[in-house]
Amino acid sequence: MSTSSITKMTAPPSTAYKIVDVPEAYADVIRRHGIPGTFVGASEEESPWVPFGPNAAIRHLLFDTRHNIFSNILWIKSAGVIGTHQHRGTVVMVCLEGSARYLEYDWVAGPGAFIHETPGLVHTLVTDHPDGVKLFGWLQGPIEFYDDKGTFVETLDVWWFINHYESYCREHGLPINTQLYV
Ligand SMILES: [Fe+2]
Repeated sequence: MSTSSITKMTAPPSTAYKIVDVPEAYADVIRRHGIPGTFVGASEEESPWVPFGPNAAIRHLLFDTRHNIFSNILWIKSAGVIGTHQHRGTVVMVCLEGSARYLEYDWVAGPGAFIHETPGLVHTLVTDHPDGVKLFGWLQGPIEFYDDKGTFVETLDVWWFINHYESYCREHGLPINTQLYV
């Protein structure tokens, strides 16, 4: 291939306000085996805040049982701590409101800040903000929780997160939103 045929995109090639037909050699395969996208609106009818202890709640957004991936918003409602835990997978988080930090590091995440944690890391989540924090998270793999003496308590994985969501829905007569499952 000559270099003259290479395009380096510096901006979207179309800003047309229309759906464009895209050529796809395997469109029928995608139709048969592709997994539809999902959408969860902002209302509590689509996914409620489920209590996680007296000062925190989780709004579940996605459960992927094939890859042990779960996505949610963690809300710590006022200054507080989510105790020390170890991740066995990757954590991607964005701070939406308030602020948070890990006792192990010296940075503080405010709105818009991005956090990436890798398998094996151990950390202790703290918010010193009077209004606490809301963190969007995309988490993969088990999370092992310890008490304040360093005694292992439980492993939280996609099954724990599904059970957390579904038990709350059952107890409160809420429908299970199938959009959360991929
Ligand atoms: Fe964590």
